[in-house]
Amino acid sequence: MSDFDKVLDQRGMNSLKWEFTVRNGVPEQWDQTDPEQGEDQVLSMWVADMDFKTADPIVNALRKRVDRGIFGYAFITEVYLNAVQGWMKRRHGYPIEHDWIVPTIGIVPALSMIVRKFSSPGEKVLIQRPVYYPFSNAIKNNARSVLCSPLKLENNRYQMDLEDLEEKTADPEVQLMILCSPHNPVGRAWSFEDIQKVGEICLKHQVLLVADEIHGDLIMPGHQFHSYGLLDPKLLENVIICTAPSKSFNLAGLKSSNLIIPNPEIRKRMKEEIKASGLFGINPFGIVATEAAYNEGEPWLEEAIGYIAKNFEFLDSFITSSIPSLKVLPLEATYLCWIDCRALGLSDQKLDQLMMEEAQIYMDEGHIFGPEGSGFIRLNLACPREIIEKALQRLKSSIEQLEPKID
Ligand SMILES: Cc1ncc(COP(=O)(O)O)c(C=O)c1O
Repeated sequence: MSDFDKVLDQRGMNSLKWEFTVRNGVPEQWDQTDPEQGEDQVLSMWVADMDFKTADPIVNALRKRVDRGIFGYAFITEVYLNAVQGWMKRRHGYPIEHDWIVPTIGIVPALSMIVRKFSSPGEKVLIQRPVYYPFSNAIKNNARSVLCSPLKLENNRYQMDLEDLEEKTADPEVQLMILCSPHNPVGRAWSFEDIQKVGEICLKHQVLLVADEIHGDLIMPGHQFHSYGLLDPKLLENVIICTAPSKSFNLAGLKSSNLIIPNPEIRKRMKEEIKASGLFGINPFGIVATEAAYNEGEPWLEEAIGYIAKNFEFLDSFITSSIPSLKVLPLEATYLCWIDCRALGLSDQKLDQLMMEEAQIYMDEGHIFGPEGSGFIRLNLACPREIIEKALQRLKSSIEQLEPKID
């Protein structure tokens, strides 16, 4: 059994989450999260990394590789392809062929490459905000514009607006859509019908669909993930599916991910873009870790999901009973919890200030996921319960001090 309760010291590891803050998009070294700060320590609950040590089989495989002492260029073999293929089939029921697997050095770089290759400057790329903000960055940084079909919040649960989506895909300036499935930050595991409808709309209007399924392994008990790969073969001809072991097994720093591209023409074009970008090398540690994660990591992942689900239960019941001005959105997938703080009546700037300066919690501000996220926060629950307990006590007292001003 892994000890998820243990608070690990992450100093001296170049940890973005615990040793840096990001100002104007640039990471700066920061000591406010240092445990030496005692009660003044800022609790880091932002970027999507876990505070858990990864699965032992992964650590052991990496250790063996380090002991070889040679770190030259590396590339994938059948062993790697079998590991990815086996995982997709076992975990998601999705049979893929070796040829369909296109490794990349992360999904974020892959998104930029996809935007460059499959749309033209000045065109629009469709997304559903509030959504993982690097989607917008990949579009804007490559001189395309964002076209948003906002998610609808109904009875404290987000839904896709499929009518609006259909209207927007019909725009001749739209060649590409990026779908987040499961959805970060709103925590939805979309239904089979939702995914199918999006696929059909995109196919009908000849819009290439990118299905970012990086959180597909992280499904909370009682919920189900429907990979795009389970859809009709004709819909698979029009998709690039993004997967990685990085979120599931806490390996993001190893920069290892895979695109699944069933259509040979799309695959050929994607490989051309990878070549043109010069980003074709694969990190040897990423290869080793991916193989170990997919072949031997599942028991650890199940334990981690169980622990995160309990963290969510704890947070949800604490907020419902002790901070009723906040509303927690149901967590169906991911370890990122989306909380509605709009009843506090604070501007985004004041809400950020309350979190960072009063409660001393470093979270992701809802507005960074698009204006639709204004008044919300995203909290990372992949941490020891002790951190969540501390954060919630701080949040409660900061909000209590504020309350008279609200009324
Ligand atoms: C939806 C989504 N896509 C991609 C990523 C990051 O991918 P990578 O680290 O492979 O670039 C994240 C990280 O949180 C994410 O939430």
